[in-house]
Amino acid sequence: MAKEKLIVFDTTMRDGEQSPGASMTKEEKIRIGRQLERMRVDVIEAGFPAASDGDFDAVQAVAKIVKDSTVCGLARANEKDIQRCGEAVRVARSPRVHTFIATSPIHMEKKLRMEPSQVIAQAVRAVKWAREYTDNVEFSPEDAGRSDIDFLCRILEQVIKAGATTINIPDTVGYTLPDAFGGLIRSLRERVPNSDKVVWSVHCHNDLGLAVANSLSAVLNGARQVECTVNGLGERAGNASLEEIVMAVRTRQDVFPCDTHIDATQIVPASRLVSGITGFPVQPNKAIVGANAFAHEAGIHQDGVLKSRDTYEIMRAQDVGWIANKLVLGKHSGRNAFKVRLSELGIVIESEEALNAAFKRFKDLADKKHEIFDEDLQALISEEASDHLENEHYHLVALTAHSETGESPFAKIVVTEDGRERSAEAQGSGPVDASFKAIESIVKSGAELLLYSVNNITSGTDSQGEVTVRLSKSGRIVNGQGADTDIVVASAKAYINALNKLHSKLERLNPQV
Ligand code: KIV
Ligand code: ZN
Repeated sequence: MAKEKLIVFDTTMRDGEQSPGASMTKEEKIRIGRQLERMRVDVIEAGFPAASDGDFDAVQAVAKIVKDSTVCGLARANEKDIQRCGEAVRVARSPRVHTFIATSPIHMEKKLRMEPSQVIAQAVRAVKWAREYTDNVEFSPEDAGRSDIDFLCRILEQVIKAGATTINIPDTVGYTLPDAFGGLIRSLRERVPNSDKVVWSVHCHNDLGLAVANSLSAVLNGARQVECTVNGLGERAGNASLEEIVMAVRTRQDVFPCDTHIDATQIVPASRLVSGITGFPVQPNKAIVGANAFAHEAGIHQDGVLKSRDTYEIMRAQDVGWIANKLVLGKHSGRNAFKVRLSELGIVIESEEALNAAFKRFKDLADKKHEIFDEDLQALISEEASDHLENEHYHLVALTAHSETGESPFAKIVVTEDGRERSAEAQGSGPVDASFKAIESIVKSGAELLLYSVNNITSGTDSQGEVTVRLSKSGRIVNGQGADTDIVVASAKAYINALNKLHSKLERLNPQV
């Protein structure tokens, strides 16, 4: 008998983007949107259109491009937000407006300063406004995990009557436990009139490390949409991880009465794309997408796996998209092969000029590194895109770094600042430290370095190092990335990329604030 469908709602580009430093440009959102569509995600929440003109444009661009997934935008329960959201998504083949208002006593009293009856009235109005743009309307009672169930039943009855078609129950602060959360979904489905007319959805945060467990418990209690993010990206400790939900449901079909339509072989490429774009590395022991997720180190395990794979493996690495690094291109590959491979990776370069610039960068890389893998191409394109930020203020021209045992490391840097060339030298505890100090002596940003991390993009010592630098200044946090076969150069690029983001003042408004 065919199983019921579990709808996968990806919010990497909305809730995921709310992680400090994870903001994405329009081009980056388009690339992620294409990859999510390729993975057969059912609903893509592309952003929060009322947050800024930039986010409106990004959501609209994703809505125009994506054809096979529903494209959704988030809106607070007010007319202006819903109007912006409706306008951004209405160009989609299948649009959805997602509106929310808080329902927990603490949020209603301290944040909204509204009486419960006013909250119900506002929620009903919001759903009706949203229905003017589309008949696909999702409603979320924010902080449902700490809301009173009787109040939830009252408000949900009213929003269903007003035309909501999906009811999403968020555990906004990641407070609930699996049994209780599953029980909440079951009770709501039993108690809310017309509950069978809507899809029940859940949206769990990971503050106690329970987002996936809570979501799965909800699925066992009748939820048929799960909101999740690639790599579990999201506010604070993140959201439920898409890859873990999809693979748990798929691997334990003996337990779940439903399954997703996700093409799981696209999971690892999606994980890499999101990690590359946001600069949030994936921990090696992360389930499904961590570098060690399928590595059997212990001799006893290796022996077992060699004799019979299922002694220790419950999933196959290739089923989630782990393939041996595929050599795709090299020094002698032509422009056309380059373009074709990019499009196979879902990367479409619109203009000839941009393609030529990317191809030149590829040739430069191929001179240094003979084998170019998909991961190299992804990094190269991310870098090319960030170098062409309209507001690129600083640009790395040249870097010389020197380190020798017993000597103090030293770096000389040349950058352009708004087109004007400037240079500086500095010493540091290592060549990376010296180059950051040299850059800072020119830029004088005063930003605080919150994180510095290096990952190799592929294996081998000739691999490119991908560096993430997180900077904080005046309450804003940005991530910069840089990749190069020389990690000192990659580090300087990442630092400059972060400085450009700080300089661009690209603000994102957090809808939950
Ligand atoms: O966590 C949350 O409550 C949200 C809602 C806007 C769905 O992200
Ligand atoms: Zn959330």
